[in-house]
Amino acid sequence: MGSLDCCVIGTGYVGLVTGACLADLGHSVVCADRDEAKVAGLATGEVPIYEAGLETVVRRNLEAGRLRFTSDINEAVGESELVFITVDTPSDAEGRADLTNVDEVAREIAAAINGYKVIINKSTVPVGTTKRVQRIIEEAMPEYHEFDVVSNPEFLREGTAVADFKNPSRVVVGSDSQKAIDRMLELYEPMSARVMITDPVSAEMVKYASNAFLATKVSYINAIANLCEVVGADVIEVARGMGHDERIGRQFLMAGPGFGGSCFPKDCRALLHIAREHDYSFDLLEGVLQVNTEQHERMVDKIRRLAGAGDDLAGKVIGLLGLAFKANTDDTRESPAVYVARGLIQDGATVLVFDPEAMERAREELEGASFMADAYDAAQGADVLVLLTEWDEFKWLDYGRVMELMRCPVILDTRNWLDAKALRKLGFTYEGVGR
Ligand SMILES: NC(=O)c1ccc[n+]([C@@H]2O[C@H](COP(=O)([O-])OP(=O)(O)OC[C@H]3O[C@@H](n4cnc5c(N)ncnc54)[C@H](O)[C@@H]3O)[C@@H](O)[C@H]2O)c1
Repeated sequence: MGSLDCCVIGTGYVGLVTGACLADLGHSVVCADRDEAKVAGLATGEVPIYEAGLETVVRRNLEAGRLRFTSDINEAVGESELVFITVDTPSDAEGRADLTNVDEVAREIAAAINGYKVIINKSTVPVGTTKRVQRIIEEAMPEYHEFDVVSNPEFLREGTAVADFKNPSRVVVGSDSQKAIDRMLELYEPMSARVMITDPVSAEMVKYASNAFLATKVSYINAIANLCEVVGADVIEVARGMGHDERIGRQFLMAGPGFGGSCFPKDCRALLHIAREHDYSFDLLEGVLQVNTEQHERMVDKIRRLAGAGDDLAGKVIGLLGLAFKANTDDTRESPAVYVARGLIQDGATVLVFDPEAMERAREELEGASFMADAYDAAQGADVLVLLTEWDEFKWLDYGRVMELMRCPVILDTRNWLDAKALRKLGFTYEGVGR
């Protein structure tokens, strides 16, 4: 295997993991980002996100000279044959994927192109974006150079991103060019991953279809959980029984406060938008999003009831454990915890919050909450303590001490994460979801 010269544009959750892991595979990688402060930190091995094992991989490859960071995209593209686009593609006001960053990067690549390049799009983008990037580059490059644009969607999960990148369930490569496909096979060869070659449009669709399917599973089990509450069934038992069926599988059957994060909600909205643009009414997916929004609201309703509050929560103190959209990440984008916190604040509650990793990011999104030093401080004087993110450490709190600190010993466990029996034995009023 030869070492390939790669550049990765956009050093966020996906770009940084991609760049560091490709360097770990032996390739020569330069990561470029327009955020100069981020680049400066990364160049000294300072990783700005919480992601297990990432800092070690970054530092190892920095030291080995296989990984560099720059804000000079022109230079990075100029010296690389493989150019990855890993910029963010947030929702716009109508829910479609905003391609401003992708378009901008395409124009920068066009300005820098100086020989054959494979331009690999890893950002999650609507069907047709491979063509769009190709057209932008063709129109903007000052002199002609051969290039191919490939769709190579990324499936890593925050929290296990390094492991996921290195051991992917599949690598999807969408391209019509054999020359580009050969480079991609060479790139991924050291991973011995299952590589699926397909056309660009199908590759783009695989990503949205996968995320929307997983989101559907979550909304489905949440709807079942809501029904379980009414009929007196336990959703954990129900999910266990369902999960034994291999056609269903066990994953993504955890009832909770709804899905969140930087991908599922945005990608469902984008897929809905694609459907609408093509006059297809994707009612099923509309329902998935609706169940999800209602699930956030249900959590606030549960808290209101458990706090014995009337129309508003004025005078009530609510402690929240967790702000990240799931455990093992500091990402709070579209986190259900943030939605619940906002709902409580709007209802007039005093909201005390703690998360082991996501406090800094949550501060930017959550006005009016009090950010506490630890979980015990978040329980201080609380009428209800709410577990919103399934961090391991919340399992091992001294709940005897928590009880002494609270005004009322009431726990809402929105992740069914804590030991209900033990907490009830201690004297807590414990409520989960769907049980
Ligand atoms: N986060 C995930 O778990 C995940 C998983 C799979 C796919 N994706 C997709 O990957 C893409 C990136 O997601 P992310 O979470 O890594 O985003 P992010 O917001 O963490 O990072 C994006 C980075 O791109 C940089 N950037 C934006 N525009 C730029 C430009 N014009 N030039 C240079 N740098 C620029 C930003 O400064 C930022 O550092 C999105 O399309 C997302 O949907 C994300």
